[in-house]
Amino acid sequence: MTDYDIIIKNGLVVTDTDQKDVDVAVKDGKIAAVEKKLDGGSATDVIDAKGMYVFPGGIDVHVHFQLPFSGTVSADDFENGTKAAACGGVTTVLDFAIQTKGESIMKAVEARRAEADPNVCVDYGLHAAITDWNEQTQAEIKEVIDYGIPTFKMFMIYKNEGWMADDGMLFQALEETAKHGGHIGVHAESVFVLDMLIERYAQEKEKWGAYGHALSRPCYTEEEAIIRAIKWAEVTGGQLYIVHMSTGEGADAVKAAREKGVRVFAETCPQYLLLDDEVFKGENGHLYATCPQIKKPHDSVRLWEGLKNGEVQIVATDTCTFNTEQKAAWNGDFTKIPFGMPGVETMVPLMHTEGVGKHGLSLSQLVALVSTNPAKLFGMYPEKGALEVGSDADIVVFDPKKKVTIKAENLQTNCDWSPFEDWKLEGYPATTISRGKVVAEDGKFVGEMGHGRFLKRKPYGKL
Ligand code: URP
Ligand code: ZN
Ligand code: ZN
Repeated sequence: MTDYDIIIKNGLVVTDTDQKDVDVAVKDGKIAAVEKKLDGGSATDVIDAKGMYVFPGGIDVHVHFQLPFSGTVSADDFENGTKAAACGGVTTVLDFAIQTKGESIMKAVEARRAEADPNVCVDYGLHAAITDWNEQTQAEIKEVIDYGIPTFKMFMIYKNEGWMADDGMLFQALEETAKHGGHIGVHAESVFVLDMLIERYAQEKEKWGAYGHALSRPCYTEEEAIIRAIKWAEVTGGQLYIVHMSTGEGADAVKAAREKGVRVFAETCPQYLLLDDEVFKGENGHLYATCPQIKKPHDSVRLWEGLKNGEVQIVATDTCTFNTEQKAAWNGDFTKIPFGMPGVETMVPLMHTEGVGKHGLSLSQLVALVSTNPAKLFGMYPEKGALEVGSDADIVVFDPKKKVTIKAENLQTNCDWSPFEDWKLEGYPATTISRGKVVAEDGKFVGEMGHGRFLKRKPYGKL
């Protein structure tokens, strides 16, 4: 009789392709059996999942923990950010190592690993953000991919931060990554028009308040940049990934390009699906400033449609937590708001309540969007994003009946506000398992600091 570490009994196992009444057994951090009525084994820990779903662990491919930004540092560090992830059913996160101009990419990777490795509580990987293009950077691309980082990010804005990549850099990076199985993620906004509009609205900042942030970043600034980046992917044959896509126009552009055979994929985030720019008119409108900013109701409608029909392949959060004290730095000037918000902890339950409950996603589509597609596209499948024998035992036992009202004070995040404060959830993770260890129960962290590992990912991710 096999001696397992954990057996999850009586649950409904949901993958991106099907749903089955099967039991799942875990041994030494891996899934050891997936069988109907598994009775040939014993385990120290038996979880009765009757009435619950058993999902592969959530994967959030876009977080910024302890990011120095806007004159401050994002408030969820690697320890607390990964604890928050675990509480919300996310067992893998991908953060960013941002190259400093004039220095190597690997230097940024090593520095970020030194911050993260001892502290992470679930598994994590890094994207490499390219801010400088020269012979050394070009030569490094293969090395970085071979090291286990096949995904890069380039910012089409953020001139003042020293992060911006121009079109020539983007073009060459797409060419080079295509040779070695990497892809380029882009933060797509039109920098020159954007900066001009920001300056224009800033002249009357008292009049506009936080809504100036929305007025200065109209949808066409994202649409134009997405179309431009797609053109460079088309002519170079490189693989492009649009991060935090916020517009319906962006979804149209991605759809049109994919129909032409361009290798482009897109991610959107709960804030773009569930909120609209009316939030900036409220008393605490400045809290919602993120980049790109939250758009119009028609954008949300189009993005939901894109998720349902496969035109948008991934949901991630762009977690970049700034608390009310940090956000107060704006002091009435919308150009000074630190951009970003919490999100990793509420992604899975929000996508269940709103996506499955109200917007017509199937349970398998939910799993595809928050787990399997990210695992495949980002070179982690089938270790992650799957519930197969041999996969990492990253599992969420999800109670679809559990009612929770979102309150920042009850969440693990270091943020003292939530963009979804008082939203009613139907369904919440009951147990989160990371590589065979229970790390969260009923939204509370019960794991160990440092349990997480750095993931060396594979190249040529595709869906
Ligand atoms: O507002 C955001 N998203 N802050 C983090 C940096 C970025 O653009 O992803
Ligand atoms: Zn960005
Ligand atoms: Zn981001």
